[in-house]
Amino acid sequence: MRKPVMAGNWKMNKTRDEALQFIYAVNNELPSNEKVESVICAPAILLRCLVKRQGDELRIGAQNMHYAENGAYTGEIAPNMLESTGVSYVILGHSERREMFNETDEAINKKIVAALNHEITPIVCCGETLAEREANRVEEILGNQIRKAYAGLPSEQVVKTIIAYEPIWAIGTGKTATPEVADETCGYVRSVIKEMYGAEVSEAIRILYGGSVKPSNVDELMAKENIDGGLVGGASLEAESFLKLVKACVK
Ligand code: 13P
Repeated sequence: MRKPVMAGNWKMNKTRDEALQFIYAVNNELPSNEKVESVICAPAILLRCLVKRQGDELRIGAQNMHYAENGAYTGEIAPNMLESTGVSYVILGHSERREMFNETDEAINKKIVAALNHEITPIVCCGETLAEREANRVEEILGNQIRKAYAGLPSEQVVKTIIAYEPIWAIGTGKTATPEVADETCGYVRSVIKEMYGAEVSEAIRILYGGSVKPSNVDELMAKENIDGGLVGGASLEAESFLKLVKACVK
């Protein structure tokens, strides 16, 4: 049995006061971490204040990270900085970073290795554009992203990572992939991992769906065999909504 993960991606939202309000509202309401991993991936400047106040059942994640240990990379954040801040997860290769900040598969590969070296769980994103889906290129695009992201990683490391399938056309658009399409595509991603690492690893790795997940559609998505949780933007910003999403994973 794969333990579900519900991860909020706050993107570039919330002041410090708003973040504190959120964390105090969810801290005592979350189900046990033994049943579901509840994660908030916050802007870097809020990480320390959230880690200091996280309740027992919440974990904090970052939204990006550099792969180098230190050096002349103005504006970047190193893995050991996240580790020493008490961050447990990091989103890597989000489509917004790929599209707007030119993040490449090769950089994502190095970041996965660096995160694992620092005991930070990478949430590795993949996903296709609408044009790619309409041109029947979903398998080619996702296969390529996953093979390049995981190139050279040993299987005992791969199982420690989480994959998030986020179709770009469903992000922030209100258009969710149907549960069937989301399940089928997560299943395809799992088959790529199987081809690379065998059945045991592909059965153990958690694959999340992301793209307009909200309390009204979370149940049908989480009921699907290949979907082990969600990576959620807009609907993770309000405490009440985030709690509903997490609770849907333990029904
Ligand atoms: P929305 O849930 O706002 O569509 O965002 C999805 C996403 O990009 C999470 O990483």
